This record gives sequence, structure tokens and C-alpha cells, in this order.
Amino acid sequence: MRLLAFIGALGIVVAIAAGVFFFGGFFNVAASEEDNPVVKWALIRVRTAAINRHAGGTSPVKLDDPAVIQNGARAFAKAGCANCHGAPGVEWAKFSEGLNPDPPDLKESAAGYEPANIFWVIKNGIRMTGMPSFGKAGVADNDIWQITAFIKALPKVSEADYKSWTAAGGQ
Ligand code: HEC
Repeated sequence: MRLLAFIGALGIVVAIAAGVFFFGGFFNVAASEEDNPVVKWALIRVRTAAINRHAGGTSPVKLDDPAVIQNGARAFAKAGCANCHGAPGVEWAKFSEGLNPDPPDLKESAAGYEPANIFWVIKNGIRMTGMPSFGKAGVADNDIWQITAFIKALPKVSEADYKSWTAAGGQ
């Protein structure tokens, strides 16, 4: 009985301490602040698990069709993705270096992603990071699948390809 009372009291003390820590302004929300490695690890696990659970469906467009990939490049440029992620031959905007977590280089980071997962991230965004929901921003599903095709093709897209595709109308 005494042990139970002790555990109960401890629970209350921990809850009050957490309340003071978070609501008293001691937890620092500054983007310039590095996350604790344990928090960072946990956030990445939570993100991966959530994407794996929610993503699904198959593309209505052929992801390896060159015309689809080129349309995807144009939609990528138009939506402003390069501001944060950069693109072949295009530097990301300086402000993106101030984001925490920082926007990954999609050429590398998305290589291991299933297309359905890439589609889901673009459509829904990732809360509490800088990654916006482009579904909410009005980009049509079909365009998001084309962007997905472009991202999957990124390792093979040269700077000259990207330049000519995005210069050729559609902007
Ligand atoms: C304002 C900055 C910003 C813009 C604009 C932006 N992103 Fe992101 N994006 C991010 C950030 C930050 C992350 C990393 C989120 C995280 O670590 O959980 C991210 C993550 C992603 C990921 C997941 C990759 C991974 O390795 O986890 C994909 C795919 C992606 N973005 C695609 C896009 C596409 C396509 C567009 C344009 C339609 C776009 N992003 C526009 C900031 C941005």
C-alpha cells in the first residue's frame, strides 16, 4: 500500500514538473536549437512508422515514362520545391538552411522510398517540420504522382535535362 502511495505521489510530481517545464517556457522551441539525439531518433522512427502505415495506392501514371518525368520536373519547379530541396543545377534558397529538421537532398533520401510513400509525403506534408502539404495547397493528385516519378528519376536527371524541361513551357 505504501509503495502504491509513493508511486502515485511520484506520478503527480513528475506531471507537475513536466507541466512547469513545457508550459513555463523552459522547453525551447527555437529552430536554431539542436534536438537531443534521443528525441531526434524517436521523431525519425515516428515519422517512418506513420508514413508506412498511411501511405498506399498505386500510381495512375507510368512512373518510368519520360513524358511523365518531364511533366513532374515542371510541376516540381512550379510548386517551389527547389526553394527548400534544390534540384539538378539549382541551389536551394538560403533560408532553407535555417529549417530544423533540414530539407533532405531528395536524390539521396528518396532513393529507398516506395513511390506511394513519396506521394503521401508530398500530398500530406510532415507536421512540425517545414514540409508543407501540397494537397492542401491545391496541387492535384495526378501532378503529385508526376512529381513522384521525377523524384524517383532524380539520380539520372542531369542539370541540362532539368534546365531544358523546366524552361519548355508549363511554368
Ligand atoms: C519550406 C520548405 C519545403 C518545401 C517548399 C518543400 N519541402 Fe519537402 N521537406 C522539407 C523538410 C524540412 C523535409 C524533412 C522533414 C523531416 O525530416 O521529417 C521534407 C521532406 C520531404 C520528403 C521526404 C524525404 C525524406 O527523406 O524524408 C519528400 C519526398 C519531399 N520533402 C518532397 C517535396 C516536394 C516534391 C516538394 C514540392 C512539391 C517539397 N518537398 C517542398 C521542406 C520542404
